[in-house]
Amino acid sequence: MKPTEILMEEHELILVMLDVIGAVCDGMEKTGKADDARITQIIDFIRSFADGCHHAKEEKVLFPALEAAGIPREGGPIGVMLSEHVMGRNFVMNMDKALNGLRKGSADASTGFIKNARGYVELLTEHIHKENNVLFVMADQKLSPEEQKRIGDDFERIEREETGEGVHEKYHTLLHELRDAYLK
Ligand SMILES: [Fe+2]
Ligand SMILES: [Fe+2]
Repeated sequence: MKPTEILMEEHELILVMLDVIGAVCDGMEKTGKADDARITQIIDFIRSFADGCHHAKEEKVLFPALEAAGIPREGGPIGVMLSEHVMGRNFVMNMDKALNGLRKGSADASTGFIKNARGYVELLTEHIHKENNVLFVMADQKLSPEEQKRIGDDFERIEREETGEGVHEKYHTLLHELRDAYLK
């Protein structure tokens, strides 16, 4: 599999989680209640899988390879993607703060959570669309087969050394659970 195909498969998983987040927000708006345990799992998934594993592959391996292949970081798609990763982290930090507020019974925590969660969904949906349709198309054109092989090996190394054995599977299982709970 090409490195961009690996990342696009991960995008599909992240998109399912974005639908789950949308459904969680709908539920909170309807019932006024929040499921602390589920929200904790969602934030963990985003931090460990979407940001920790997926964005690590992009930021540490694919983007540097694209820069080396002549796609500029500043003023180009790589710079935009990196700044969107940062914006995503801020949304998640604020979702986590709002969750703490919910635990303390803070009156506006629910609104704060929904606002940031919906902002995150909107940002990441667009972000994934741009990567799939613009940046990854450029990557497929610019990177030689040897370079793509090297990138694939580096992705495996990140999975092994940084993400950890069995972690990917754990998040697949969690995603299925959440999908069954919210999207059926
Ligand atoms: Fe990205
Ligand atoms: Fe991505």
